Amino acid sequence: MDIRLLQPSDIPHVQHANITNLPENYFMKYYLYHALSWPQLSYVAVDVSRPKKTPYDYPRIVGYVLAKMEEDPPDGVQHGHITSLSVMRTHRRLGIAEKLMRQAQRAMVETFGAQYVSLHVRMSNSAALHLYRDTLGFEQEKVEAKYYADGEDAYSMKLDLGFIREQIVDEEDDAEDLDEGEPVGELGKKDGEKELNGKGAGKKRKVKVGRGLGVGELVERNESQKA
Ligand SMILES: CC(C)(COP(=O)(O)OP(=O)(O)OC[C@H]1O[C@@H](n2cnc3c(N)ncnc32)[C@H](O)[C@@H]1OP(=O)(O)O)[C@@H](O)C(=O)NCCC(=O)NCCS
Repeated sequence: MDIRLLQPSDIPHVQHANITNLPENYFMKYYLYHALSWPQLSYVAVDVSRPKKTPYDYPRIVGYVLAKMEEDPPDGVQHGHITSLSVMRTHRRLGIAEKLMRQAQRAMVETFGAQYVSLHVRMSNSAALHLYRDTLGFEQEKVEAKYYADGEDAYSMKLDLGFIREQIVDEEDDAEDLDEGEPVGELGKKDGEKELNGKGAGKKRKVKVGRGLGVGELVERNESQKA
């Protein structure tokens, strides 16, 4: 199974999966709007167990998550929204939906600094409710009466993404602490081991490298004038 970013060429197959699995369907341009506005956020699960025989074989998309950022959040807080999620019956209960959701959630934080993610779910959809509430930790915000076209109510749910921000910081710290092998020569030694005298010996200090280019420095020089 391959979980990868949704590409515009996947859209007819995603639309097919959506029509097969859910009564909430959308025009092609709505998928395109997601794929072009937030290309980092929507993912597809592709069954690659049967490899392509010709270049014209289309990918076998067995699941997707269509996600976006809220454009004008009423609460003023930057957050993502899950527009649609589904997995083909043949591929359910394999953890695909969970994986798709986690990928989208992480991308919302990494790319757009989302604080939380929201979604709607039918009150009768026990499979989705289990996934959102028990597996992923979403909380029920409120009930939206007659949210769906057939009159069913929806739970409006929300998940704080603070834990992903912490994970990212931890991963960055771990990457900084990576053991790069034995020190080589004087330069390879840690600060504390160097023969430093006085203040600062043994302290780790972050220093900027390179040159911060101000706009002025990026403006092309007028070569006709003498320096
Ligand atoms: C809801 C749906 C996306 C789940 O997809 P999936 O790939 O089967 O889900 P996962 O395998 O990732 O399962 C995630 C969790 O949900 C649980 N789950 C999945 N299907 C379930 C079911 N029918 N009943 C109860 N729990 C279920 C799994 O056991 C798992 O729980 P765990 O973490 O405790 O083990 C899928 O059933 C589906 O496409 N349904 C139709 C479309 C739909 O309802 N989409 C959601 C719209 S809001």
